[in-house]
Parts: sequence; structure tokens; C-alpha cells
Amino acid sequence: MLPALRIASRRVPAVRRSAAFQAARAASTWANVPQGPPDAILGITEAFKADSFDKKINLGVGAYRDDKGKPYVLPSVRTAEEKVIASRLNKEYAGITGLPDFTKAAAVLAYGKDSSALDRLVITQSISGTGALRIGAAFLERFYPGAKKIYIPTPSWANHGAVFKDAGLEVEKYRYYDKKTIGLDFQGMLADIKAAPKGSIFLFHACAHNPTGVDPTETQWKEISDAVKEAGHYAFFDMAYQGFASGNTDKDAFAVRHFVKEGHNICLAQSFAKNMGLYGERVGAFSIVAEDADEKKRIDSQIKILVRPLYSNPPVHGARIASQILNDPALYEQWLVEVKEMADRIISMRALLKENLEKLGSKHDWSHITSQIGMFAYTGLEPAQMDALAQEHSVYATKDGRISVAGITSENVGRLAEAIYKVKG
Ligand SMILES: Cc1ncc(COP(=O)(O)O)c(C=O)c1O
Repeated sequence: MLPALRIASRRVPAVRRSAAFQAARAASTWANVPQGPPDAILGITEAFKADSFDKKINLGVGAYRDDKGKPYVLPSVRTAEEKVIASRLNKEYAGITGLPDFTKAAAVLAYGKDSSALDRLVITQSISGTGALRIGAAFLERFYPGAKKIYIPTPSWANHGAVFKDAGLEVEKYRYYDKKTIGLDFQGMLADIKAAPKGSIFLFHACAHNPTGVDPTETQWKEISDAVKEAGHYAFFDMAYQGFASGNTDKDAFAVRHFVKEGHNICLAQSFAKNMGLYGERVGAFSIVAEDADEKKRIDSQIKILVRPLYSNPPVHGARIASQILNDPALYEQWLVEVKEMADRIISMRALLKENLEKLGSKHDWSHITSQIGMFAYTGLEPAQMDALAQEHSVYATKDGRISVAGITSENVGRLAEAIYKVKG
């Protein structure tokens, strides 16, 4: 035995080496818990942190960065937070469905101030967008009259499948992204909507589809709405990027508002993580358009019954900040400008990346980089090329070729383009 090992074994207390201890250990309550796979995004962050190269680039995480690559707190959020603190509110519990001033304003932001949905809307504050999706999934699982099956796009945000499955829904996929065109497989999507059993639930990304950045056009949304209506399906919208996609909160809400105008009593998950930069504050809302006042009352009662055993009531601080912004006309105007600035920076980074690749002499068509929208670009790079980007160029992003455009800056875009050119040509 090597001396070091001998020392190590001498240090193990006799009781721990005993047969009784070993037997007890084998019978541990958690002995059968299998090792789970690491979270894909967190794994990238770990690899990025471990890299000592000073010009390394992290394009994995879906959070906005300023042009210096730093996390960004919106000035409107800073002012709103100061106002919240200055008003020295108490820390009492909110109601089960959260702060009414916040949820009312969130509903107006999503559906529009003149929407016919506002009077018959059931809305609850949620633990950001994820929590909104989870409440929605739980409600559908409990009350949806048809099959408890939800169709999500291929691909979709990595967490959608898990959220819906954990809430007890069966998850199916519909065609969305066309690898060949690096664009929307619109005909495939329509065909899958038409082929699904009558009354199926369909999840749509309202804007800035994650991970592809590929959105239907307004004309295509109209056709999708018709197809959903004809098939008697139910639409669940996930709007995690309102304003962040185009820079205009009304334009980004087109699909949601069009569906409502067409008579779909949709449900909707909203997040204020990206458009207000309130990531860690966990501010969101879940809403259902009811048929009438009576239905609204019944659904509202059941949402409360659902939320109460989950977390009793939502946190107040972030919702107070969002509410301050949405309900103060001057701050609201300021916020709209700041959302547009974030969207514009992302749009300009897309253009710069494409321009740099072309300047380097890349013969590939990179027009999808600028035609896609929102936080992410789906580059079309293969997993092996993404590995090479990380290992040879210290550029970190998910293996599916998705890059977070928010992580690109005027300083690193040149090096990024060179790295992509070297691995792809
Ligand atoms: C499509 C989509 N939905 C929902 C979310 C939920 O985010 P959060 O829970 O931080 O609001 C995200 C976040 O990345 C997303 O991309």
C-alpha cells in the first residue's frame, strides 16, 4: 500500500469501517437516487469560468449585457426601486394572486388598453415566466376538457418540456424550425396544427422564439390563428420577450392580440425578466381570457386554490418595481425607450457579426443572423463546430448552435467572427 493511502485509511474512524456502518450506508434512504445530467447552460457557465483566457466570450446565458459585456440595470428600474424604497411600504403578504396594481398594468401591456379581454381576464402574479407557465400547466392539467396533451415547437426553450411534464401534461412536438433554410418550416407547422386531434393544446412563443430567433410574420400568424380555430385547438402563449424583440411592446404583442381579436380565449405567460432586466426578482404573470364574468369568477377561484398550496403568495419587491414603472406615465415612457435601446443594441450586434463574417471572406449566407430576432441567434453551426469554438477559441455557447447575441459587444465581435470563420469557413 502506498504510504499516503495507508495514512488515509488510518484516518478513517473504526466505526465507519465496520460492517454495520457499510450495511447501513447501502440501505440509505437515497441510495437509489440516480445522478442526473448537469443543466446545459450552467455547464457552459462553469466551463467559461474555468477558462483563464482574458478574451474569452460567454454566449450561453440568456441575459442582456451592455456593450462592455456587463449586466445591466435599467435606469428606469433604478428610479422605480428608489421610489419603492422611499415610500417605506410594509412587508406584509400580498394576496394569493399578487399585487393588483401590477397585474392590471401587466394585462394592459400584453393585451392592449382597448382589448375586449381586459374585463373578462383572470390574472395572477407569478414567479416570473417559468412560474406562469407552471401555473398554466397545472390549471390545464386539472381543468382542460380535452386530452391533457400540449404541443410545443421543435425546438423550444429547453425548460418547456420539463415544466409541462412535471405538471402532468403529455408533451408532443410540432414542426417549427427548418434546418435547411435556417428559417421557419411554416408549411410543416400548419400541417401539424391541422393533423393534431381536435381540441389539442398548442404552445406558441409570442415573439423572439427561443432558441431559434425565428418568428412567424404577421401574415403567417393570421394563418396560424385560422388553422388553430378551424381545428378547435386551444392556444397557450409564452411571451417572455415583449419589447425585447423589435423594441416595440405593441408590435411584439401582435400574435397575442390578434388571437384574442379572432375570438380565441387564450392563456398567457408573461415575464418581466428580460424586458425590465428583473431576472432575479422573478416578476411575471399568468392570465386566462374567460368567456364572461361568471366564468372569470370561477376560474379565478380555482387559480387561487391552485397557487395557495404551491407558494401561498408571490414576492412583492420586484412586482412593486414593475408596477411603479407601468403605472407612472413618465417612467413608463422612459422604460419604453430603454427597452428599445436594448433591442437596438442586439439588432446592431447581429448586423456587425454578419458584416465581420462577410469581410473575412466567408462564403456562407449569414442573412439569418440579421433576419432572426430577439436575444438569440441560431447560427446553424454543428455540435462539433461549437466544441471547436469553445476548445480552440474560448467562445462558449450551447451545442445546438444557439448564441446569445446579448453577449456580443463592439469589442469582441471581431474576434467572434474570426472564430466562427475558422471553424465553419
Ligand atoms: C421562451 C421562454 N419562456 C420563458 C422563460 C422564463 O424565464 P423567467 O422564468 O426567467 O421569466 C424564458 C427564459 O429564458 C424563455 O426563453
